[in-house]
Amino acid sequence: MADIILGIESSCDDTSAAVISDGYLLSNVIASQQVHKDYGGVVPELASRAHQQNIVPVVSQALEKAGVKASDLTAIAFTRGPGLLGSLLVGTSFAKALSLSLDIPMVMVNHLQGHVLASFIRQEGKPVCEPSFPYLCLLVSGGNSQIVKVSGPLEYEILGQTIDDAVGEAFDKCSKMLGLGYPGGPVIDRLAKSGDPEKFHFAKPHVPGLDYSFSGIKTSLLYFVRDEMAKDPQFMEKNKEDICASFQKTLIDILMDKLIKASKQTGIREITIGGGVSANSGLRERIVSEGKKRRWNTYLPEFKFTTDNAAMIAVAGWFHYRAGERAPLDIAPVSRMADF
Ligand code: KG4
Repeated sequence: MADIILGIESSCDDTSAAVISDGYLLSNVIASQQVHKDYGGVVPELASRAHQQNIVPVVSQALEKAGVKASDLTAIAFTRGPGLLGSLLVGTSFAKALSLSLDIPMVMVNHLQGHVLASFIRQEGKPVCEPSFPYLCLLVSGGNSQIVKVSGPLEYEILGQTIDDAVGEAFDKCSKMLGLGYPGGPVIDRLAKSGDPEKFHFAKPHVPGLDYSFSGIKTSLLYFVRDEMAKDPQFMEKNKEDICASFQKTLIDILMDKLIKASKQTGIREITIGGGVSANSGLRERIVSEGKKRRWNTYLPEFKFTTDNAAMIAVAGWFHYRAGERAPLDIAPVSRMADF
């Protein structure tokens, strides 16, 4: 009999539920919260309230779309953390209640594992395209910038990570600073497409090993725009696209320099990316072009699996389930988790 797993994701501002059957995706429903747009960032209290409103309809829709009854489920996988505590609490409590009422086990998933394993989401009618172990995952989101060595579905080693801001934070904060809106990544990505990436140059950090730093580039951009605006108040308006393209290229250069170094050091040529920033078109193009040059096998998740979604939680949960792991009913969500 197939393992049918319901995945539940509620770590930040997306309420999502997905159903997979032996790793094949049957449904993936995401309710993105619009309520935060006016505030320029996620408001935790509003996020948990919206999750409470969304969780029942989202799970019902996921089951309906999958053509599965709740009584057909084998197990429930939920995001335990890291994330916003109030948001996580909604998904975790819902998973517990459902597990108790259906008398089926639940498994906990570290949200970051979901991103790292997103390439393993199988879809009917599409070729299976999964990295072989060990592989390197460039995990880039609003909260993380890491290079993770994945030796097995549940075996991880963080080779490098940011010592300050995450790269998504750099996109978001700089977009806000430039008056371009929130979330910054997609806006900068769009404007960068019609800009010249070589027009302006921003200082790159010198961080030893495979670690990253993204706080300095923010300051570099701030001073640059401030100085130019003092000379010409229209500077920003006239050069928006070029600033975005040059800024984005600098971030991608920083990310790629360390990824290339990690691949050389480990001898690993299986490369994946994950997390919200992996939707960035410039980064995706660069991974593919560097991959061709360096004989890497590259695996890019589909756009719908780059941002927060329950399909990746269901797949990661399935690995945990098959490893015999079970979460107790008194389990509590955690905003921070020990690395993987
Ligand atoms: O993984 P995610 O949905 O949430 C967490 O941080 O957990 O990532 C959100 C981040 C935001 O910083 C957003 O600006 C960034 O992903 N992002 C992008 C793009 N789409 C989303 N960054 C660059 N280019 C994009 N196209």
